[in-house]
This record gives sequence, C-alpha cells and structure tokens, in this order.
Amino acid sequence: MTNNIYFIANWKMYGSTSSLNSLNKLITLSKLKKYNKAKIIYFPPFTLINDLIKKFNKTKILVGGQNCHHIEDYGSFTGSISPKMLKDLGCKYVILGHSENRTSGENDNDVNKKIRSALNKKLKIVFCIGETLKEKRKKLTYSVLKKQINKGLKGVKNYQNFLVAYEPVWAIGTGVIPKNKELKFNVATIRKLISKKTKKKLPILYGGSVNSKNISGLKNITGISGFLVGSASQSSKKFIDIIKKTIN
Ligand code: PGA
Repeated sequence: MTNNIYFIANWKMYGSTSSLNSLNKLITLSKLKKYNKAKIIYFPPFTLINDLIKKFNKTKILVGGQNCHHIEDYGSFTGSISPKMLKDLGCKYVILGHSENRTSGENDNDVNKKIRSALNKKLKIVFCIGETLKEKRKKLTYSVLKKQINKGLKGVKNYQNFLVAYEPVWAIGTGVIPKNKELKFNVATIRKLISKKTKKKLPILYGGSVNSKNISGLKNITGISGFLVGSASQSSKKFIDIIKKTIN
C-alpha cells in the first residue's frame, strides 16, 4: 500500500452522544506524522453527524452520511435526508449502494440516481458493490459486479471524488472474509470494469468483517487502497488497532 490509505468507520444504527469521548485517542493518532497517509472518514448515524463534525474540527478526520435521498435539495419525504442537507452540515462524503440498503429494496437505478444527485451537490461518494452468498455459489459474482457498476454508474462523468468499496454481502457482519486469492481476483475484476467508465485509477476498498485480527493478512492484498469497517469501528480501540496494524 503506497498512496493514501482509507479507513472508513461505518457506525450503522449504533452510537450515542456518549460514544464521542472515546474518539480522543483516534484524534491524537490522526495528527501523528506516521499516519499522514491514513484518510480517516466517519459515517455516524444522522443524529450524530453534527457532533462528530464538531469533534473532528481542526483535524484531518472527515465525516459523511450513511445514505441520502435521490432528490438533491428539499421535498416532502418524511424521514429522509438530502445531499444538500448533508453538505449543509459539513459532510464531505456519502455511502451509497450499501448492501443493507440494497437488501431493503434499493436497486441499481435508485443507487444511480442518488450518486448523480450527491455528485451534483459536490459530495464525495463511497460506492458499495458486492455479491450475495447465493450469487457467489451460482458463480454469478462477475455478472453481479458488472451490473452494479454499469447501472450504478450510468451517466456519471465525474470520478474525481469517487471511492469504490467491494463488500461481498456474505462477508458483512459474519466474521467470514474472502480468501486472499479470491479477493485479489475480484478487486482486479472491479478495476477492469471501472476502467471502462473512467481512465482515473479509483481507490478500491475492501469491506466485510474487517477486524484487528484479520487486517494483517488483508493489508497485503494487491489493489486495495483501504477498508470499510463496520462493527469493529464502533470501538475506537479496535479501529485504532486496525490503522496501526495497516501502517506499521
Ligand atoms: P462489518 O460491516 O465490518 O461489520 O462486516 C461492514 C459494512 O457493512 O460496511
């Protein structure tokens, strides 16, 4: 791993105002020269975005939203948050296409609309893709990734602010991770598919049960520029461990 290494903390529907003090050590670490290459981005639930932005003020740590509506500005959509609202709070990023949202009904077309709106509002995108266990068993991984990329990125022209997160659905929250060979192969496949969309070499991250124990094996896989960490990111100690073991 040479250039920037992304460490994404996806808190999902966890965290409360009392979780914030535990971030002090992470802030200290982020200021050390040794960790200059670490690009740390937190995705708390919407309720904590404001607190985290204040907490990370004057640090390099950025904050993003875990999802957004496909309407850019405002509208009568009870319970939804628009790209404009995320931007207004000071968010720099948004996660789109996460499998937990795909499972609850979001399709590639929805993801595409969200990506385009978020880009219009100058948010940076973490675009999540990955196959389910059923699809993997049926040897459909390639066609699933191809479909998610082609449909999700339809009409997208600006890849300046784009990260791709490969998250096999069967690895999320299960404690199971792909074998190195499989992961390397799928990341290379994604790279090839994306290269048909843009000449820019987008960072590809891996997500799914990343923890402080398996990180040492994962960090050496060719083509990966960082990690999207779910449950292990809820403990700053574990998240710090992941960063330290990646950059040592
Ligand atoms: P996990 O979640 O690390 O808990 O598997 C990853 C994700 O869903 O982004």
